[in-house]
Amino acid sequence: MSTTYTVDSATSRATPTPKPMKRVTIPAIKARKGDPEAEPLVMLTAYTVRTAQLLDPHCDILLVGDSLGQVIYGLPSTLPVSLDMMCAHGAAVSRGSYHAAVVVDMPFGSYEASPVHAFESASRILADTGAAAVKLEGGAAMADTVRFLSERGIPVMGHVGLTPQAVNTLGGYGARGRSGAEYDKIVGDAEAVAQAGAFAVVVEGVVETLADTIVGTLDVPVIGIGASARCDGQVLVTEDMLGLFERTPRFVKRYGNMAETMTEAVERYAADVRSRAFPSADEIYKPKS
Ligand code: KIV
Repeated sequence: MSTTYTVDSATSRATPTPKPMKRVTIPAIKARKGDPEAEPLVMLTAYTVRTAQLLDPHCDILLVGDSLGQVIYGLPSTLPVSLDMMCAHGAAVSRGSYHAAVVVDMPFGSYEASPVHAFESASRILADTGAAAVKLEGGAAMADTVRFLSERGIPVMGHVGLTPQAVNTLGGYGARGRSGAEYDKIVGDAEAVAQAGAFAVVVEGVVETLADTIVGTLDVPVIGIGASARCDGQVLVTEDMLGLFERTPRFVKRYGNMAETMTEAVERYAADVRSRAFPSADEIYKPKS
């Protein structure tokens, strides 16, 4: 699958193809753990081509997260997200990027039943999207699946701690690891997926000391979200970080106010349409003289 794109002369809407650049590879991401000089990994979610184009030069990893269910589709959780949705958005993000490694989430129901089922879903994701790797949620219970995929050429990013696809088992989206038993279980989960071959592990929504323990234990990069500043990298949902939503989790830092910017632009557009100030002479076609 081509990861570049050409100007669409019919709509003029595409951005010209950027200079070809070597993509960040999965082995290079894994190797960051052992490099004392390495900077923390920068990862953001992307679901669409234009967002991918804008984020790509600044990120090591673009995650096509199943959070797209809520962010793009307004679903109540990530559970109804389908493999078709992930493949369509994953392909768009690959087309819009040329530098960052693209990782696509395996949606709920596409990998839990067996390693073979997971292989069928993951191989379709890689073939349809051009992504370099998949991410799946779960710890020790998923270790056999992580091993099965990794040994068959499919790089896997793990995801432990607060795992949103397990919201019904966990009972909500609160931080994990406050009790000793849960703390130990999450450390064990992270170790299990790393030992099974995960090239990196996302740790989400856990108490800081737990994240620090995992960072100190694993020999692959630990990417935090609501975890610890000492993680080997950080990830956020881009729309949360840009301030598109009124409510975001405590761990989100807003670097923009996209909701305000959009509202202000749409208000001005609506006023111009109603007053006939738009379109003006600059925006209409005249017959050739
Ligand atoms: O789906 C997603 O966006 C994620 C990140 C928040 C880690 O899994």
